[in-house]
Amino acid sequence: MSTEQSIQTYRDGARITDVDALVVDGLSVYYETEGGTVKACDGVTFTLKQGERFALVGESGSGKTTLAMALMRLTRPPGHIAKGSVTLHGRDITSLDDKEMRQARLAEIALVPQGAMNSLNPIMRIGKQIIDGVIDHLKDDEPTPTKDELDEMVHDLLTRVGLRPGVARLWPHELSGGMKQRVAMAIGISLRPKLIIADEPTSALDVVVQRQIMQTLGRLQEGLDASIMLVGHDMGLVAQFADTIGVMYAGKLVEVGPVEEVFSNPKHPYTKLLIGSLPSLQEKREFLGIPGLPPLLVDLPLGCAFADRCPSRFDKCETAIPEKLNIGGRRDVACHLYEDEVQS
Ligand SMILES: Nc1ncnc2c1ncn2[C@@H]1O[C@H](COP(=O)(O)OP(=O)(O)O)[C@@H](O)[C@H]1O
Ligand SMILES: [Mg+2]
Repeated sequence: MSTEQSIQTYRDGARITDVDALVVDGLSVYYETEGGTVKACDGVTFTLKQGERFALVGESGSGKTTLAMALMRLTRPPGHIAKGSVTLHGRDITSLDDKEMRQARLAEIALVPQGAMNSLNPIMRIGKQIIDGVIDHLKDDEPTPTKDELDEMVHDLLTRVGLRPGVARLWPHELSGGMKQRVAMAIGISLRPKLIIADEPTSALDVVVQRQIMQTLGRLQEGLDASIMLVGHDMGLVAQFADTIGVMYAGKLVEVGPVEEVFSNPKHPYTKLLIGSLPSLQEKREFLGIPGLPPLLVDLPLGCAFADRCPSRFDKCETAIPEKLNIGGRRDVACHLYEDEVQS
């Protein structure tokens, strides 16, 4: 399978507007630990347009979940937002009080957390779990829906995530992994959010189920006219889904751009290696990975965090951290190789 074939999109009617749904500017999230400050998310900047599908990829430990949680303002000690701002539909959510933020969650921005399908309450029927999610997030002045209204809501949500309404009466252990993930999505979208963050929604599922879940996620997003940030580590899978891709490495967003452009012409050496290591159908080989290990986030090198694994490194990479550069259109890259290409 060539790269071109592997990025054909599920999408026929893209409806990306020019309205900013989410603007993340210089966001840094640190964990204060006994071993030192873990810079899990460091100076992350990107914009997500209304209707856009943005995929955030990066190997395990690169800070994807930390970023997702911070966007929901769900960072808990020892983590804290050290710097930066998060603007959701024109409103800076770092300045909302806890009550306002609680309302914003689910209603405006919803998270399907990593491992959500494994955190369903084993002793509660599915329908009740969905209802609890809805009731939790009712505004104070909203009347509690009647039982019939709630039943109808559950029926509608289950149908929208591709499950039969009868699933409401089942227990979590009676569901397959894919079905549990669908329930987690139903809970996530129950209040019709305008931005959905899905953190590795398909890991631990087999390939066929992964594709089905992605298709459902795409349909949900389009039905809600929402934007989506899909967090994943499988570059090949997210590329089939997203409009835009952001690549994270050691807490930093090292490259952002339209999926087709990033795949056909990756700029950052890390992105190049990631794409180059994607398994092809003919070869049927496993993902090979990139030699070497990422640095410890408590002990980041003086220069570029990727330098010691980078085939293109030169002197400056060891001494200076590369800033994010716009290299035309919506393409950003944080790499010293491109500093000469940028017109000031
Ligand atoms: N509660 C925590 N305390 C200390 N370090 C943490 C905590 N949560 C995450 N980290 C560290 O932050 C880094 C990023 O983690 P995470 O955001 O979960 O990455 P990803 O989702 O990309 O796998 C990792 O080095 C991880 O060990
Ligand atoms: Mg994660």
